[in-house]
Amino acid sequence: MSFNKEIERRRTFGIIAHPDAGKTTLTEKLLLFGGAIQEAGAVKNNKIKKGATSDFMEIERQRGISVSTSVLAFNYKNKKINILDTPGHKDFAEDTFRTLTAVDSVIVVVDVAKGVEEQTEKLVAVCRLRNIPMIVFINKLDREGKDAFDLMDEVEQKLGLTVTPMSFPIGMGYDFKGIYNIWEKNINLFSGDSRKNIEETIAFSDVENPELDRIIGEKPATRLREELELIREVYPEFNRDAYLSGALQPVFFGSALNNFGVRELLDSFVEIAPAPRPKESETRMVEPSETKLSGFIFKIHANMDPKHRDRLAFLKIVSGTFERNKPYYHVRQKKNFKFSSPNAFFAEKKEIVDISYPGDIVGLHDTGNFKIGDTLTEGEIMSFKGIPSFSPEHFRYINNADPLKAKQLEKGIDQLMDEGVAQLFTLELNNRKVIGTVGALQYEVIQYRLEHEYGAKCTYENFPVHKACWVKPDDAKNDEFKEFKRIKQKFLAKDKYGQLVFLADSDFTIQMTVAKYPSVKLYFTSEND
Ligand code: G4P
Repeated sequence: MSFNKEIERRRTFGIIAHPDAGKTTLTEKLLLFGGAIQEAGAVKNNKIKKGATSDFMEIERQRGISVSTSVLAFNYKNKKINILDTPGHKDFAEDTFRTLTAVDSVIVVVDVAKGVEEQTEKLVAVCRLRNIPMIVFINKLDREGKDAFDLMDEVEQKLGLTVTPMSFPIGMGYDFKGIYNIWEKNINLFSGDSRKNIEETIAFSDVENPELDRIIGEKPATRLREELELIREVYPEFNRDAYLSGALQPVFFGSALNNFGVRELLDSFVEIAPAPRPKESETRMVEPSETKLSGFIFKIHANMDPKHRDRLAFLKIVSGTFERNKPYYHVRQKKNFKFSSPNAFFAEKKEIVDISYPGDIVGLHDTGNFKIGDTLTEGEIMSFKGIPSFSPEHFRYINNADPLKAKQLEKGIDQLMDEGVAQLFTLELNNRKVIGTVGALQYEVIQYRLEHEYGAKCTYENFPVHKACWVKPDDAKNDEFKEFKRIKQKFLAKDKYGQLVFLADSDFTIQMTVAKYPSVKLYFTSEND
């Protein structure tokens, strides 16, 4: 197959949802339809369950699973599908934000009863900023939930989207009869035993056909006709270009648990979802069809076996092909590296591959050379944009609890930060280290992993910071900047890239600082440059 055909057939996407909306179930059903797994229950749930085990032990369990679910690839209708896993737990939101830099489109799962939830809002906001094409799947139609039109309104208002239904439910919950597929013009009838079987569809190009009344009943048929009429009046027609540019979001309805509406979703997905998209680097736009390799690391998975310092760095290929044993240029390190055993991912396993294409994710064994955001090329000096750090929400001093293990602690902190577990700030005044995280859970994870993987012990001490603000000295007037540095000395730190950060203790402080030193600009994200 030609290089361009290989690119054209790739679909790399992520599924985003508030926990419990049905992301894992949907992923599993997509794999079932793709023939990648044979039975339901094969995909382990990597979410953090509330319950008996303490949270951080649960995270360890989850980490063990998540290397195998990080990328799930399969072939469907001659398309190569790569699903990138995104953790649903809010304490790991940053992980998800990073993964979203590597997808070409997303499917947003919404629970029919709960509607749009908090985590979905945050994740969709990130996708909207980047104009990522989105498809919305409204799940759990076998349960009583909100009215379909109300839900679409809610999706539009809370998520800031413009939707168009591609399928529509016939009834809901107890009265759920099935799904009318507006796109393909057919009906998929729901029956109780559809959990295991994949249902046949009934073609119905003309809903006026009286046969419809016979099949789903007179009342539901009349209602469906009225609803379809309303849809035609109210919603824009599907337009692929609008979808691809992020201006229109098609909506599907179904029940992942019951295999319902999933085939329709997948069939439309492979038809409309984008092949690998161009990506902006700091110097230029990179097209997937360029023959020279370029790609970036969006995730690092470390130390699954604490005896070997094994890390797997996940590279998203943006352009060209990635070949085994060929030297590639590590732009930050200014060095060439060769990879003798790059991994490709399949449904539940990984295998060494000789060649991978744009859109694919390659797992590179790493001994500490990679950081999240690193770029590989065939010599060109460029870096891909778009993996900024956001201000953490929690801040604590980290102290060494075992003076004999200072080196191990240092190394452990360094590597965990490279992995993106948390952010490190080093205070300018006294070199004390402050760890910033999105959720309180990470402190337990860090302590546990430092001890088990690096043999180091740490304690924490509260540091009352509200927000980290990045400061670019070049922006500021010299005198003003000097004064700012002198007054705020105690609250200035460097992040791990050496950028200056102001650790503000309240919004009020931020406002006062902005008013007092107008030329000192405060930024709430870093672009890692
Ligand atoms: P998540 O990854 O988004 O967190 O959600 P997950 O797929 O784990 O689904 C959350 C719960 O919702 C699961 O139930 C799952 O079985 C259920 N679910 C998913 N899709 C549907 C659906 O279409 N209809 C109905 N009725 N339920 C659905 P659970 O009891 O939490 O877990 P389990 O014991 O079933 O695994």
